[in-house]
Amino acid sequence: MEAVDDADQLPETPKNEVMSFFESAPPLKDAAETEKSLKEFVDRNTSLSVNRKANRVVCVTSGGTTVPLEKRYVRYIDNFASGHRGAASTEYFLKAGYSVIFLYRRGTCQPFCSLLPDDPLLECFSVADDSNIEVDPLHAETVKRAITENRAAVADGTLLKLPFTTIFEYLQILQLISASLRSLGPSAIFYLAAAVSDFYVPWESMTLHKIQSASGPLDMRLAQVPKMLSMLRNEWAPMAFYISFKLETDQDILLAKADMALKKYKMHMVIANELSTRKEEVIVVTEHEKVTVRRDSTQAGAEVECPLVELVVDRHSAYIKKVDA
Ligand code: PMT
Repeated sequence: MEAVDDADQLPETPKNEVMSFFESAPPLKDAAETEKSLKEFVDRNTSLSVNRKANRVVCVTSGGTTVPLEKRYVRYIDNFASGHRGAASTEYFLKAGYSVIFLYRRGTCQPFCSLLPDDPLLECFSVADDSNIEVDPLHAETVKRAITENRAAVADGTLLKLPFTTIFEYLQILQLISASLRSLGPSAIFYLAAAVSDFYVPWESMTLHKIQSASGPLDMRLAQVPKMLSMLRNEWAPMAFYISFKLETDQDILLAKADMALKKYKMHMVIANELSTRKEEVIVVTEHEKVTVRRDSTQAGAEVECPLVELVVDRHSAYIKKVDA
């Protein structure tokens, strides 16, 4: 699903396609609650100044969107992404003094949790007696850090976590976020690391109940998901700083595709990554440069997101200066 994304070579997304996507999408559950938390988050962060880069907020998207095949869905098409990129980047943005809206796929990696084993509950804890649970000393530090740092960032209002599962939820929440960050102008960043479906089944043409296999092979037509990058960039929050990601499995086409996305969607940066080496290195493509960013392999546990976020923060600062000049 993910690899078939020649949408970058198609003409710009017409606005009516975007409108009809939203009009036909199932209503977002808790939309009012989400809007309220976004408003509170933005208000709070725009009034913060001590020790933080005043007013700087980044929306980090993370994990993959699903495409339901039925309204009461049992089956769906998924997009590959563990959410590690988004979760790790969130930690480095917080360290750099940014406030973060973390738009993540339910069940994927969380900030400050990357060093936990795959099944933390079963691997880190044991039952000591009837009323006590103990942490395995081997994992104690990691568990402590995951809980304290994650909760501290949420409690002090610098991390807002918003979950999604389907493509409908993802794009509707992204639209709400863009509306709330619009007023921040160049101080806002969109760091779009989520793997977003390119095809979907429109809600009105979806069956209500589970598709029955007794009727033989399944013949289903998927519509193209309108690319939302142009809407974000041109309409929803035009002054923000935009970073999109380009994932390919064929290194030979990666840079050309990243270049194309940079120009077509007027991104400030496109981060090109190849599936098998994505945790080791990425190539940051901008109008004037291509910078290879590598993980420091001499340091145990070093992540490529550390130098990557440093570079993003540097270019974002330059962008703010340029806009303010
Ligand atoms: O989560 P990990 O396992 O750590 O992996 C990280 C990653 C490989 C998923 C991440 O680094 C990455 O490359 N994410 C983007 C993958 C992707 O969906 O690429 P794309 O070519 O389909 O989309 C490019 C951009 O267009 C994306 O930033 C996406 O947000 C945007 N898009 C995509 C589809 C669509 N309909 N509208 C969009 O705006």
